[in-house]
Amino acid sequence: MIIFVTGGAGFIGSNFIYYMLKKYPDYRLVCVDKLTYAGNISTLQKAMENANFRFVKADICDRDTIYALFEEEKPDIVVNFAAESHVDRSIEDPEVFLQTNIIGTAVLMDACRKYGIKRYHQISTDEVYGDLPLDRPDLFFTEMTPLHTSSPYSSSKASADLLVLSYYRTYGLPVSISRCSNNYGPYHFPEKLIPLMIVNALHDKPLPVYGEGLNVRDWLYVEDHCSAIDMIIHNGGVGEVYNVGGHNEMKNIDIVKLICKELDKPESLIIYVADRKGHDMRYAIDPTKIHKELGWLPKTKFADGIKKTIQWYLNNREWWETILSGEYQNYYEKMYSQIHNRQCE
Ligand code: NAD
Ligand code: DAU
Repeated sequence: MIIFVTGGAGFIGSNFIYYMLKKYPDYRLVCVDKLTYAGNISTLQKAMENANFRFVKADICDRDTIYALFEEEKPDIVVNFAAESHVDRSIEDPEVFLQTNIIGTAVLMDACRKYGIKRYHQISTDEVYGDLPLDRPDLFFTEMTPLHTSSPYSSSKASADLLVLSYYRTYGLPVSISRCSNNYGPYHFPEKLIPLMIVNALHDKPLPVYGEGLNVRDWLYVEDHCSAIDMIIHNGGVGEVYNVGGHNEMKNIDIVKLICKELDKPESLIIYVADRKGHDMRYAIDPTKIHKELGWLPKTKFADGIKKTIQWYLNNREWWETILSGEYQNYYEKMYSQIHNRQCE
């Protein structure tokens, strides 16, 4: 079995590569990644030691290179993680999101049509459903919830989903889609809430909470997402969409306070800054379909997962300190430099 993992030098893709190499020692995994600011080759250092792993630096929008790779490797399965993934960046500069998330998806699927494939799996997100009101805890996203996006990021992901389903209907391409809630765990890029708060707290820097911190996200340990994808690509239905989430809704402010507590840092580090534009209030996944059809259930409870994650950041300082000392510094300064001006009353 040969699996192409696009975006495998990023957070979830790299966790998936390690998960699959361990579980299926006979599979060949080919990681295709452009190594944008979010891709980190050092993350894949251990995978490089495995003879069944190959890394190729390439842009999924580069049709000639992608076709040549398909011709050479003849993959059985493609799992597409490659994406611009940060909502705040999409608000500042949407274009690259449209390019990678939509056009890149089309190029990959065209290659699948041309060279043949057993399964094309698209990694999507719960953000395609928009948000839920805080005062309706009875509501959840199901696979039938209409797409209703808020940010350029989520709109690009929803566009890709529609494209994937159209390739199924029009060309009969054997596709599947998973829409997962917020992941956390090792190798999470420090621009995202949980790692940002961990590394800032470790440096005794301000912990910038958008708005009042009441927005709710549904957190899943990354390994549980990987096991869901594994089940879908092997046993999931063609043309099907699966929601993935572990019923673990938490307010942002509670997460930040918990990180302070775990690291023994004062809550006085928390500052409330201006809200994200179009900020989604609440995400909450109904994972009934994947549970009933494929028997998937998450294994890691948040109380354990967050401890493991914090410990990982404590044990792997070099990984994130290298990121903090590079190009990311410019982004952080641009995004948060006016932190005091942006502070809410
Ligand atoms: P990430 O930003 O950490 O990694 C993205 C990877 O894609 C990076 O390695 C980057 O170099 C690569 N990449 C970007 N543009 C590329 C291009 N044009 N060609 C090839 N490679 C390219 O993202 P992540 O958090 O690991 O998310 C992976 C996928 O999962 C995304 O599709 C995202 O929408 C989806 N998702 C993420 C979450 C989450 O909580 N992080 C939840 C649900 C779904
Ligand atoms: O739900 C799945 C999505 O989860 C994925 O599709 C995205 O790729 C992924 O980035 C994530 O999106 P979010 O916008 O939910 O994640 P983020 O970590 O950026 O923010 C989580 C919450 O924390 C959100 O309500 C905004 C808030 N936040 C974030 C940052 C970076 C803050 O309050 N302060 C911050 O500095």
